[in-house]
Amino acid sequence: MLPNTTVKIGSLKLKNPVMVASGTFGYASEFSGLCNLTKLGAIVTKTITSKPRQGNPCPRTCETASGLINSIGLENPGIDVFLADKLPQVSSIGVPVIVSIASEGDPEEFTALARRLDALSEVSAIELNISCPNVRKDGKRGRLISQDAEATFRTVKAVRAATTKPLITKLSPNVTDIVEIACAAEKAGSDGLALINTLLGMSVDVLTRKPRIAMVSGGLSGPAIRPVAVRMVWDVYQNVSIPIIGMGGIMDTASALEFFIAGASAVSVGTANFIDPGVSVDIAEGIKKYLRQQKIADINELRGSLRV
Ligand SMILES: Cc1cc2nc3c(=O)[nH]c(=O)nc-3n(C[C@H](O)[C@H](O)[C@H](O)COP(=O)(O)O)c2cc1C
Repeated sequence: MLPNTTVKIGSLKLKNPVMVASGTFGYASEFSGLCNLTKLGAIVTKTITSKPRQGNPCPRTCETASGLINSIGLENPGIDVFLADKLPQVSSIGVPVIVSIASEGDPEEFTALARRLDALSEVSAIELNISCPNVRKDGKRGRLISQDAEATFRTVKAVRAATTKPLITKLSPNVTDIVEIACAAEKAGSDGLALINTLLGMSVDVLTRKPRIAMVSGGLSGPAIRPVAVRMVWDVYQNVSIPIIGMGGIMDTASALEFFIAGASAVSVGTANFIDPGVSVDIAEGIKKYLRQQKIADINELRGSLRV
């Protein structure tokens, strides 16, 4: 018998638990022809803001040992262009579309964006990006919403009141205690948690003594952060009852499975898409194979099955 790979995040049902992470898959049409997009569990779009953003100056990415530092700075065309040009294309693929939203500092922006998306049947869920480390105000990196439990609670609660769509809150690893933030998001009505966003990092060119990205520091992703991400999923899993979408350095089936065993209900693949655009589809297939080999009838049985 074929194993069940259907998972639920609130009322959102996914036929398989492998999605692509925000900001690493564009609006999906960029990847058509490179992989079978219909085989994805869901597509999470690049984060959208109310107004278009040009993003940060270049260079904005650099490769490090087993990782990538980026400081894209939420470049996006803004909600109007997204709704007119991008959403029709991505929703025509036929897999659930999770729209990631962020605010440039104004809390009202989150609720306004959520309200607009709430009315659209093409939008399967909303991901609240309160954890982007690459947006600066007056040249300074302020405190992120996801670095403050009270601000997380307030923001999630306000967005919760603005939409009935499944709501996923994306958390930052750049905190002392991610469990506290996760609990605040759950208490405020989030249907799921996505973790982790990138880990703050920096790299220096020793010949020029310049930082290797223009904004000096940025967000580290890729295999280098996976042990941090798996540990955070495990810690959060033991303290919340809403589903977790695990991510951070997933490169193949085995690394995706680590997250399920640590407590994730679903996973997102990010940086690996830049190396192999078909990797997420391969991982979805690989998970089915693993379940068959291990005689596990349902992916949901694997969740949190860590043998300690
Ligand atoms: C180039 C790049 C751009 C990203 N842009 C976003 C974004 O717009 N919104 C967001 O929530 N996360 C963004 N992320 C973070 C990823 O979605 C993901 O949380 C993180 O990279 C960890 O997963 P990974 O190691 O598999 O890449 C971005 C990551 C990269 C590498």
